[in-house]
Amino acid sequence: MCVETATDLAALKAAGFAVAETLRLMRAYAQPGMPTLELDEYGRGVLESFGATSAPYKDYGFPGCTCISVNQEVCHGIPTAAKIMQEGDLVNIDVSAELGGVYGDNGGSFILGEDRQGLAPLVRASEEILRFAIRSVKAGVRIGAVGALIEQSAKQSGFKVIRNLCGHGIGRQLHEPPHEIPCFRDIYNRERFQKGSVIALETFISTKAEIAEETADGWTMVAEGGGFVAQHEHTLMVTDDEPVVLTAANGIAYR
Ligand code: CO
Ligand code: CO
Repeated sequence: MCVETATDLAALKAAGFAVAETLRLMRAYAQPGMPTLELDEYGRGVLESFGATSAPYKDYGFPGCTCISVNQEVCHGIPTAAKIMQEGDLVNIDVSAELGGVYGDNGGSFILGEDRQGLAPLVRASEEILRFAIRSVKAGVRIGAVGALIEQSAKQSGFKVIRNLCGHGIGRQLHEPPHEIPCFRDIYNRERFQKGSVIALETFISTKAEIAEETADGWTMVAEGGGFVAQHEHTLMVTDDEPVVLTAANGIAYR
């Protein structure tokens, strides 16, 4: 969507705050030995306290409230009682929700406890690349140029990017045009960011694979050929200068 009024912006900020706070609190709540379902139920309670509704559930019938992906899972992991998080796991939580008719989307990968798999450089690269990419989003800038920046930065850190998972427009629905804000230099994407438009910018930084594939459960995506992927995501409003980060929780510097 394109923000036209102060009321639009206030609603987006409220939805963004709800998902950002939920993500922040879920990260703090996650512990080794905890089933991902328990973490999801906790997140559901936080979202409900804001009056927000899970977007993947509402828009797509996702069997959970938030997406929790562990280790080899890249995204859209289904929270279950059987999946127990362990010390050193790479965990990705992606929280998206509707509040007051608009949506917010905020995700992040982190290492649970001690870094037993040596994945800190991957997580750090993904966080830093998102921060860097956010600063490059301005009205009139080519979507493809931001993708090129993400890809180039990943390469410089010794990583790859997943080519078939993208950021996206957001607002009145979870996914809106522009439908593809890729993490690579897509020479066919000649679209430019529009002033006032709302987008979810996402990194998919990978140790090995360039493609993610769906698993038999019909939701969970894994890296083709193995390896790890870190994702970080913020919802932004495009301006003539640096974008407004709608998912910066509690005034804390976004990450
Ligand atoms: Co998301
Ligand atoms: Co998203």
